[in-house]
Amino acid sequence: MRHGDIDLVVRPAERQDARFLAELWAYSFPGEASAEARLGTLLEGGGPHGGLDTCWIAEGEGRPVGGFRTLPLRMTLRGRMNPVQGLAAVAVAPDARRRGVGREMCRRALRLGVENQQRMSALFPFRTSFYADLGYALVGELERHQFSPEALPLFPEYRAARSLSMQEAQELLPAFYDGLLPRLHGPVERTRQAWKHLLSAVEGVCGVPDGDGGLRGYATVDVAHASVPERSMLRVRELLAEDAEAYRSLLGWISAQRSQWGRVQYDASRGERFHKLLSHPRLQGQAPARGLWFPSSVLLRGPMLRILDLPGLLSDERIAERGVLAVRDDEIAENAGIWGWGRGGVQRSQEGTPGEGLPIGLVTELFVEGRLPGQAGARTEWDPALGIDDFRLYDVF
Ligand SMILES: CC(C)(COP(=O)(O)OP(=O)(O)OC[C@H]1O[C@@H](n2cnc3c(N)ncnc32)[C@H](O)[C@@H]1OP(=O)(O)O)[C@@H](O)C(=O)NCCC(=O)NCCS
Repeated sequence: MRHGDIDLVVRPAERQDARFLAELWAYSFPGEASAEARLGTLLEGGGPHGGLDTCWIAEGEGRPVGGFRTLPLRMTLRGRMNPVQGLAAVAVAPDARRRGVGREMCRRALRLGVENQQRMSALFPFRTSFYADLGYALVGELERHQFSPEALPLFPEYRAARSLSMQEAQELLPAFYDGLLPRLHGPVERTRQAWKHLLSAVEGVCGVPDGDGGLRGYATVDVAHASVPERSMLRVRELLAEDAEAYRSLLGWISAQRSQWGRVQYDASRGERFHKLLSHPRLQGQAPARGLWFPSSVLLRGPMLRILDLPGLLSDERIAERGVLAVRDDEIAENAGIWGWGRGGVQRSQEGTPGEGLPIGLVTELFVEGRLPGQAGARTEWDPALGIDDFRLYDVF
């Protein structure tokens, strides 16, 4: 394994680092915010996930050579809240790349997560292999459907759906979302700032009232305008419902928009089996594929996760209770070894032996899918919304 050739010092960012970070990120993530806009956000207290207090600087050869952010998130994993590190904005100065700085910064970030007692680290990768080498696993899957609104039934429940003003949305959505978290797998808690940011980026919100001043579901939408009206597309950004009736209300509301929009885009969890609801689940604008087969959706892959605190997770879920789990972790020695259940709870009977056991990336993947040995059936009381236990992280950072 290659080691970096720059000795790095990683330290919390200070005010005088803000310009370096703003310029580094504007260069590294082109097409997003400008350096000036980034600088303003950093100095004025930050964006949806925090400000300068979440930023880190890597120095080498007497100068800053990179930066990243660690976001203190709280993520629901099968309904249980966990402190999770969001790793974001990993960037290396253009003249310091391919010398191991990026990898070493990520290793330091993992250590920071362990020190902060975070259970997992989560990120959206520029390339999966880079993070897979550090023990991350790709966990999210969405089916992107594009269809004519007529293909979606006008479910009679659509009459229960109401368009919400942005002010109503700001008041009602957070409480509904928070209440649903114990029945979801993957979403993170949102600050008021995060909600403000999210709602400022959408053009419409539809809610299903619960008759008691709250909601049973909501959908946020925006529109991709095209000069040809029938090519304009209504895009569903988020759709959350607590039961099948509220789900059908929201889909019916989308179907009822058919006189205005020629197309709808919706990213469904695989467990929704959304194609079953469409009268013709064909992806619009695509040529037939493989003889008479037709393309139906595009598979999107999302975040990567990595377990930071394996004993903590095993113990929460009582996973090792019914057997032993041999784990290999080349970065976090505290996770490596043979785990089982003793009198005092989860115990490590043997420390890690190099090269032996299930790699931590695979353990992460199996854990998220609920397929670790002993995991199925360990939590019988969990009642996922709509019966769907797919992992899904709505926020992007
Ligand atoms: C992605 C990014 C952070 C990588 O940073 P970096 O410092 O170049 O990364 P590293 O040097 O640690 O690793 C990159 C590659 O160089 C190799 N490498 C490391 N040290 C090396 C050396 N001394 N000589 C030659 N190659 C080296 C690594 O093995 C790695 O190989 P791989 O392509 O097979 O994975 C950087 O390119 C960047 O800032 N990109 C723009 C922003 C971005 O996309 N960020 C990621 C957000 S998720």
